[in-house]
Amino acid sequence: MQTILILHSLFRWAVLILGLWTLINALTGYFSKRTYSSNDNRSNLFFMISCDIQLLIGLVLYYTNGWFDRLKDLGNNMKDPINRFFTMEHTTLLILAWILVHIGRAKVKSAQTDNAKHKRMLIFFGIALLLIVISIPWPFRQLIGRPYFRWFN
Ligand code: HEM
Repeated sequence: MQTILILHSLFRWAVLILGLWTLINALTGYFSKRTYSSNDNRSNLFFMISCDIQLLIGLVLYYTNGWFDRLKDLGNNMKDPINRFFTMEHTTLLILAWILVHIGRAKVKSAQTDNAKHKRMLIFFGIALLLIVISIPWPFRQLIGRPYFRWFN
């Protein structure tokens, strides 16, 4: 299971880089009023795929590392900040981010003008990226903090 945890930890950087690429495209596209290009489409498609992969790895960790079992004694486990973070906060907020990314992509596709596409890209992917950043157990966060990098031994 250590391998899955390492993959989940490392893959966060792919999600963040692709999310940032999407956000920069949305910002520059919206404010410079340029056409919606294949580069814009590619960035948010790759961002969505990276979120799909991270969700799958996260679900495996959730079921195999005992977090799911902790839901059975929810009352007691919610009193513990680490259990509360990984069983509820991290999971719920990141599934919400994943939903926003999927809705966002459909909304961008259905928008009629290039400027509307960039605006929707900015709103949906921007909020999703914000949720992702605040839900990561960064090492500086008390109690729940995890390392920036994990690597295979
Ligand atoms: C973009 C989405 C996500 C990002 C960026 C992300 C990132 C992270 C990071 C950095 C860790 C700490 C890993 C370590 O200990 O080094 C972690 C832990 C964890 N994540 Fe995620 N995660 C995401 C989505 C999810 C989802 C959707 C789930 C569940 C369905 C999930 C379940 C977990 C669990 C259970 C742990 C604790 C692993 C353990 O120690 O047993 N994650 N996540």
